[in-house]
Amino acid sequence: MKATVKLEKKHFPVLLNELTSIISPLYSGTFIDCTFGQGGYTEQILKNKNNKVIAIDRDKDTSIRALKFKDKFKNNFVYKNIKFSQINTINLEKEKLKAVIFDLGYSTNQILDQKKGLSFNSKGKLNMKMGLNEYSAHEVINKLESKDLEKIFKYYGEENKFKKISKKICEIRKNKVIKTEDLVEIINSVKYKNFSKIHNSTKIFQSLRIFVNKEISELIYGLINAFKILPVGGMIVVVSFQSIEDRIVKYFFKNFSKNKNPSRYFPNNVEKRILFNLIKNKPIFPAKKEQKINPSSRSAKLRYVIKINDTNNFDEFIKRFHNLLDIENLSKKL
Ligand SMILES: C[S@@+](CC[C@H](N)C(=O)[O-])C[C@H]1O[C@@H](n2cnc3c(N)ncnc32)[C@H](O)[C@@H]1O
Repeated sequence: MKATVKLEKKHFPVLLNELTSIISPLYSGTFIDCTFGQGGYTEQILKNKNNKVIAIDRDKDTSIRALKFKDKFKNNFVYKNIKFSQINTINLEKEKLKAVIFDLGYSTNQILDQKKGLSFNSKGKLNMKMGLNEYSAHEVINKLESKDLEKIFKYYGEENKFKKISKKICEIRKNKVIKTEDLVEIINSVKYKNFSKIHNSTKIFQSLRIFVNKEISELIYGLINAFKILPVGGMIVVVSFQSIEDRIVKYFFKNFSKNKNPSRYFPNNVEKRILFNLIKNKPIFPAKKEQKINPSSRSAKLRYVIKINDTNNFDEFIKRFHNLLDIENLSKKL
């Protein structure tokens, strides 16, 4: 008789040792884990009994793991099924808030969950919702006009073939509803030969995940609200996995730090407001050993800052990324 073994892939918390050495000087207080996931970061922080974690995740599926944590860590652990752009709604009156931590992207469980359809290996109806969404990739691909799809593919996916792929989608959907496997087939038919290591569908799927989950406004308002709720001396830590996210984090941290500009191409701001102490100019990458054990950690970058001044004015930051933010408005057409 053949036994069926269900293999569950473990989610390895990325850059865990590096995160621990950065935040441990702040221990004895409250930490907000904005991306609870499988709880890897939270568990590590709660190893110190003087710490409390307020854990957030938009994916309701993470609440099962959160229940186990509640059982084990009691009052030192609080879980909220909200989006991290809403952290300013948490009552922090009695908390000694030390740091707000973001580990962006998706957990292994989410990627492997066929129902969520986050991966191009999924089958069936397009979805890509992480949780607390207004619409899915099914509506985006089957309803939006070609020129709107082009914008999503070009700016959120940095896909060169954005025009051809959008055109083909609109042609095919005249005769059928486009499912995940159809989308992969359309992309393959346009891109055909692939000499690189990156899968043909990577960029288009990335762009759809960003659009469906409104990841740009989530990150921008997540960072702004993290800043607002933190006392001076508090820390923001972000682990990002793709270049658009990292560009936003890098700009926010560097542009508002002493004598640091996001890149040599940004003008030197004479009247720049100094909000942060940027401890390291360059991001921290996973060590070779971690990359070997967990290949998906390869693209991870950790950046962190300490808040040194307050402000209520984030206009410059929002304006800098208004092109990316405006694309989210296309969802009004759905
Ligand atoms: C890479 S996983 C985090 C893994 C976690 N650090 C661990 O060690 O298990 C990212 C998690 O963040 C959640 N997430 C992504 N965007 C979010 C948002 N805007 N608000 C709240 N949670 C979010 C996802 O649902 C996912 O569970």
